[in-house]
Amino acid sequence: MSLNIAQILQDDLITPMVRKTAYGLATTCILGAAVYAGYCVAAPEKHIIRQHRHPELNDQIEKVVDSLKITDDQLIHIMHILEEEMSAGLSPITHKQATVKMFPTYVRNIPNGTEVGQVLALDLGGTNFRVLLIDLRGNARVELTSKIFVIPQSIMIGDGRHLFCHLAECLYDFMLKENLLRTGICYPLGFTFSFPCRQEGLASARLTSWTKGFSCSGVVNEDVVKLLQEAINEKGINAKCVALVNDTVGTLMACAYKDPATAIGLILGTGTNACYIENLDKVGTWNSDYDEPKQVIINMEWGAFGDNGRLNLIRTKYDEEVDLSSINPGKQIFEKMISGMYMGEIVRLIILDLLQQELLFLGHRDTYGDYKTPLYNRGGFYTKFVSTVETDEGIKFSNTRRVLEDIGIHNPTYDDCAIVQHICRQVSKRAARLAGAGLAVLVNRIGKSDVTVGVDGSLYRYHPRFKRNMERCMETLVNKDVKFALETIPDASGIGAAVTAAAECRSGKGAAMVACVAGKPYLVNSIVSDEETADYEKINS
Ligand code: GLC
Repeated sequence: MSLNIAQILQDDLITPMVRKTAYGLATTCILGAAVYAGYCVAAPEKHIIRQHRHPELNDQIEKVVDSLKITDDQLIHIMHILEEEMSAGLSPITHKQATVKMFPTYVRNIPNGTEVGQVLALDLGGTNFRVLLIDLRGNARVELTSKIFVIPQSIMIGDGRHLFCHLAECLYDFMLKENLLRTGICYPLGFTFSFPCRQEGLASARLTSWTKGFSCSGVVNEDVVKLLQEAINEKGINAKCVALVNDTVGTLMACAYKDPATAIGLILGTGTNACYIENLDKVGTWNSDYDEPKQVIINMEWGAFGDNGRLNLIRTKYDEEVDLSSINPGKQIFEKMISGMYMGEIVRLIILDLLQQELLFLGHRDTYGDYKTPLYNRGGFYTKFVSTVETDEGIKFSNTRRVLEDIGIHNPTYDDCAIVQHICRQVSKRAARLAGAGLAVLVNRIGKSDVTVGVDGSLYRYHPRFKRNMERCMETLVNKDVKFALETIPDASGIGAAVTAAAECRSGKGAAMVACVAGKPYLVNSIVSDEETADYEKINS
């Protein structure tokens, strides 16, 4: 514009009056440009915020977010790698080094809804522990009473004997309230124990390693059913553990009780894992009988996928940081990219990185370095916050504002909220797509035209888009001639343990429905809570 004015000024035909006006205009333009440039330098945040109006267009932010994106082709590649790792886990030659362990579970009969009986179940898998009394009524009908107890952090990382003693105390407390003690009946008990175990029978399982923040001493390599039964006997409780199941197996069994087409169990909660029904001839590590049915449920322990570096091509520096600061570095790599125990922490690290690169919370420089705020502390951004932020639709961001307030960012701008939501969406979408790719491998492998997947876990239940994102991605990856359905049943992992125990008693192998001597009374001193979602908030610490 100033160039045009200069040309105009050289024109002899211009009257002095016009010339004067033109000079004025030119000066205003030059001054205006200078003031604008000065303004941009003096107030960079305002300038950058304009760019942030469309976070997806901002190069620097997008570079960070791009590192989280996994294309369909990459997912297909990951599916091939998972298949190879599964074969390694199933073969006796490679099983020892394999990362995806593919443990045979000894659960071979899938329920058909006719199982009946009153069974106790214990469900341990996170910071919450649940005791259940399950009444299987046949015709796929179930009634249950249950109580949730908290496992204090001190017990999670303490002496293993204290853990099992605590479980027995909680069981005693529950049975006392339900008038089940000293009834002359020894109740069969199913134990949902959601950690990697090498099973040696339905009621015999050695823990191979702790996951999800547990590290009790003296339990790895031990038979956890034996440890539990000893604690139960010590307290004179009239119950006998006849089956141990992983939560994925419990979920599969509970769903199969209602829908016999169920062939896969999936957990997306504090941790993640899947199980499925495999033909015995594909299980090279199987060392028991080959009677009918020639199938067994395989507990994959897919959380450990990538522990040998095979997922490094899709890991980000945030994943590496989450792993390094965890209680089990180098372990559960797939789980750390997906599950509820780590998702909030990944988001927190990205937010912190953007803040340090001066791309976020620019109006909050005065609070930078206030290391007491949750934003600066490991576990300060709960995974439930990711769900809360993603429930915001439109431009008000009322939930996001509340969450940011909680982590110590007061009065965030519209742009701050939009960027934080963008990050949450990308992190949870990546997790859903990775889980979807894993599940697609199993659905394709089952070889049936209709496959039902029993799914449970706090992440899956409470996140507003996880299911949708996972299904969308599976629609591209599952063979076109296969129909799949994702089913969720309340209390599935506990009910599944009870169904397994009931089936075992019916077969006569469990020898559980026998009278036993009522034991000595015991005083219970355990913390009781009904806080269902406590483990959802918990971060590996
Ligand atoms: C962890 C455990 C696994 C469990 C999963 C979901 O990955 O190792 O056994 O099934 O969490 O709770």
